[in-house]
Amino acid sequence: MDKILVTSALIYANGPVHIGHVAGAYLPADIFVRFHRLLGSDIIFVSGTDEHGAPVSIKAEKEGKTPRELVNFYHDQIDKSFAGLNISFDNFSGTARPYHHKISQKFFKALLDKDFVVQKSGQQFYCEHDQRFLADRYVEGVCPFCSADGARGDQCDSCGKLINSIELKEPKCKICGKTPIIKETSHWYLELPKFENMLKEWLTTKSYWKDNVINFIMGWLNDGLIERAITRDIDWGIPLPLPDTEGKVLYVWFDAPIGYISSTVEWADKIGEPEKWKDYWFDPDCKLIHFIGKDNIPFHAMIWPAVLMEQNDPYILPYDIPANEYLNIEGSKVSTSRNYAIWVDEYLKYFNGELLRYVLAANAPETRDADFTWQDFQVRINNELANILGNLANRVFTFSIKFFAGEITKPLSLSVATQTALSEAQAIITEIEACYRNYRVRKTTSLIMDIARIGNRYFDERAPWKAVKTDKSHASETLYLCLELLRMLSIVMSPILPVKMLQLRKMMNLDDEMSWKYIPRDKTVYYISNIETLFTKITDEQIDEQIQLLEKVQPETAPLVHKPEIEYDDFMKMELRIVKVLQAEKVKKSKKLLKLMVKIGSETREIVSGISLSYSPEDLIGKKVVMLINLKPRQIMGITSQGMILAAADKDNNLSLITPMQDIDDGSEVS
Ligand code: MF3
Ligand code: ZN
Repeated sequence: MDKILVTSALIYANGPVHIGHVAGAYLPADIFVRFHRLLGSDIIFVSGTDEHGAPVSIKAEKEGKTPRELVNFYHDQIDKSFAGLNISFDNFSGTARPYHHKISQKFFKALLDKDFVVQKSGQQFYCEHDQRFLADRYVEGVCPFCSADGARGDQCDSCGKLINSIELKEPKCKICGKTPIIKETSHWYLELPKFENMLKEWLTTKSYWKDNVINFIMGWLNDGLIERAITRDIDWGIPLPLPDTEGKVLYVWFDAPIGYISSTVEWADKIGEPEKWKDYWFDPDCKLIHFIGKDNIPFHAMIWPAVLMEQNDPYILPYDIPANEYLNIEGSKVSTSRNYAIWVDEYLKYFNGELLRYVLAANAPETRDADFTWQDFQVRINNELANILGNLANRVFTFSIKFFAGEITKPLSLSVATQTALSEAQAIITEIEACYRNYRVRKTTSLIMDIARIGNRYFDERAPWKAVKTDKSHASETLYLCLELLRMLSIVMSPILPVKMLQLRKMMNLDDEMSWKYIPRDKTVYYISNIETLFTKITDEQIDEQIQLLEKVQPETAPLVHKPEIEYDDFMKMELRIVKVLQAEKVKKSKKLLKLMVKIGSETREIVSGISLSYSPEDLIGKKVVMLINLKPRQIMGITSQGMILAAADKDNNLSLITPMQDIDDGSEVS
């Protein structure tokens, strides 16, 4: 029997869960775990919230809460969201709990004692304005590897590489926006180069890993490993287990994966067998499987195994790290800061959690990024769940009740058509089993629907509504086979739709334990009763409502597009002066243009300016604005424009003229 320990990446307790989290690390894990429970594997599933570090303390500062208040609030909210999606953790913990602090300190100490962690003085960004070191997300800038903007001090979201914050280009303090200075501070470093050979050797045993994970790691190893600071100068985190180290805490990415262990320890305590966690973590035959999103690959496939390798206890190393790609929404990247996301707690106010499970399974971001759209959601629920699976159950059940009082017995012999349908379904089930084992949730989902399709086709071909009038046993056989298929579906589909499949089984009065091994067990008689609709269709109005909600996101602060650098002399070629508007009128037949007469000291000039949508002539008369004087005159709508008024334009092209802060003579030069 397989012994498996499954984990889902610990989600930061700094905000609610969105469907990208679910699709990346939670639903695939839950489906895998539920499948193995059907097989009878000895499997446990742990996770929790990631409660330390800059992600949490920055958000707490923003919301005016203490980190602990913030963490407690979001932990509960996250817990409820997962419950609403029927994610079946054996334990869902949090890293701010005492269990976790103790174990993390022990881990640190073990590495320190063996010289795999070494204290060194190093350079860090420091914000003089806020008087603090800028760890990780407290500093943002341009990625040294891919030049993407908005890279954080610890990792670049664009290329996924880990960054030593000091290497960031154009660094800015996240709190005040100012450019930090570089200052010496002392930290404890994990000596990754010392692990290089061990890691390489270990990775040679991982030929079965997903390509995205292997490629990433190989790239990393080829670049050569460097030491990583695993402590930080912030005040929210796990204190170092060393004297005189006040103000220093463990780096959140050092302690977070240890959360998998502390969550298992907590689980063992809860079930009253406090030593039981060791049955998993110390058993070399136990398969440790980490479900994560792709941005977490380097931490799980390099740093975490290194940390596990040099402990004093015989911890197992990850057996597999199925990392998923990203889930976009309506063609755009999720952005939690702009509120561009589908939050699970919001979703659950409108729809059943099982429907989302289905859609995210069918469209899982397994090998490449996937796109969630509300229209696809509607199509999958209506055309797949309702029209194929729901329809099969509905027509078979109603028919059974109407013509056979809900009681269908197994025929003495099966016709060729029936046997064919059955063996087709069985072949698909063999394939489904392999897909489940290999985390291929997308394929599994479509294979399962194929079984329902076989049922519908068979039902149509045998037309029991006709047969029932002339050959009742023919109709009964049709129903029997369809019920067999529905029973099998209720098992093979249950990892994806656990609650719906229980509902289905209830209508079929199946009270035996659900287990993969019972799939071929043909029943001698079926009783159908208390039928209800399994899947209701989603209306266009429901979908429109969701799309509108999504559009209410905060506007994007688009990255700035820069022009090439110029010389000081280029700038000095421009003659900019304050001018006073004497007259203003609309240019005939033009929506955008105003004709202005302006006074520049001793001169007057006529110019045409495209500001009519933002300013009316009366707004302008008597105002002083900035004008480029020496722009070559241009003919605009038959008028010679002798200069250009300066105005700022936002992304929606709202204009604002540039005016002097204090009154100043027209003709004054601007530079
Ligand atoms: N909180 C991290 C993130 O959201 C994931 C932590 S996974 C763990 O990116 F293993 F470290 F816990
Ligand atoms: Zn980058």
